[in-house]
Amino acid sequence: MSADVIVFDTTLRDGEQAPGFSLRIPEKLVLARRLDALGVDVIEAGFPIASVDDAEAVRQIAGQVTRPVIAALARCTPADIECAGRALEHARRGRIHTFLATSDLHLERKLRITREHCLELAVKGVTIARQFTDDVQFSAEDATRSDVGFLTRVIDAVIAAGATTINLPDTVGYSTPDEIQAFFETIIAGVTARAGVIYSTHCHDDLGLAVANSVSALHGGARQVECTVNGIGERAGNAALEEIVMIMKVRADRAPFVTHIQTPELFATSQLLTELTGEAVQANKAIVGRNAFAHESGIHQDGMLKDRRTYEIMSPVSVGVPSTTLVLGKHSGRHAVAQKCEALGFAFAKRELDQVYRQMIALADTQKHVSDADLSAIAAAVKADAAHVATPVGYGHGV
Ligand code: KIV
Ligand code: ZN
Repeated sequence: MSADVIVFDTTLRDGEQAPGFSLRIPEKLVLARRLDALGVDVIEAGFPIASVDDAEAVRQIAGQVTRPVIAALARCTPADIECAGRALEHARRGRIHTFLATSDLHLERKLRITREHCLELAVKGVTIARQFTDDVQFSAEDATRSDVGFLTRVIDAVIAAGATTINLPDTVGYSTPDEIQAFFETIIAGVTARAGVIYSTHCHDDLGLAVANSVSALHGGARQVECTVNGIGERAGNAALEEIVMIMKVRADRAPFVTHIQTPELFATSQLLTELTGEAVQANKAIVGRNAFAHESGIHQDGMLKDRRTYEIMSPVSVGVPSTTLVLGKHSGRHAVAQKCEALGFAFAKRELDQVYRQMIALADTQKHVSDADLSAIAAAVKADAAHVATPVGYGHGV
């Protein structure tokens, strides 16, 4: 039996906080509408106290994007929470997401407060937030490096104060998959107040484990996953939405969770984000990278042409990529060359095809890829040569 998972998209907040990814209000609105079409359950639209523009973006998204829950971030201070509450006033379903660090490192070195003071601030923050909305999320920043006993006390207290979602971020991407699963199991078992509370995971990618950790947290009992399109976010980024969702689809046997994400919208959403921010994703990025469904090596191309399942575990169409591409380069084989030639309208006997293949490899040694235009030129020249050789003496030779 699969469990429902809430997809909380923080592209417009944690993602937008990363250097080079800031967006203007009209761009945020365009992206929010696309996230709505993608089917995310919650859009974290911004951090209203951070700037007048951030507050205005949250206000406009909350007023215009009505299906998903719209969340606004706030520290556990009255000014932040009131600002978030005001920005959400026109939301059909608004959530205040208030956060406070709970690790001793953050309490002692960053906030310079005691554990007891932290507990007090967290309860006060949630209590104020509840005056604006029934949907209040509390995040224990740096949760995975916090003392479990203390963290459990904080969670019990904020639930009693009215928090309905408890987010336990791996703020600095320090955890490992086995550890974070055990962490969620321990916390959920240790908290007294249980009914109706959703536990949430929010993982950063400093060790490249954000997606693996998010899925493990779900195995540990989390039922909300926080993620971003293309995995953008602070430092190395957040867990990539498209990867988490496709793990659930492709490996439902190992990750029995379901979401409302329309997976054929994934590629267009990724593309929109790169257009708006001007930041491309790496070519080999899973699901949405340029090479995610491209094959250059001869062995792989041959396998793909015989049965695509040999080298593709999901169809490109399932994530909105129009088609697989067989890229011609120096690693390509005859099978792909023959197929490409055919698609370009050339039919060759084996000997001619060998010539086309050899010339293609020679060209590929001098340039990275051989385009369709390059192949067409080679194919046409080989055809002309063959016709020339085959022309009987006395015809077409000027005699
Ligand atoms: O990484 C983090 O801890 C955060 C919180 C504000 C949720 O982004
Ligand atoms: Zn974060």
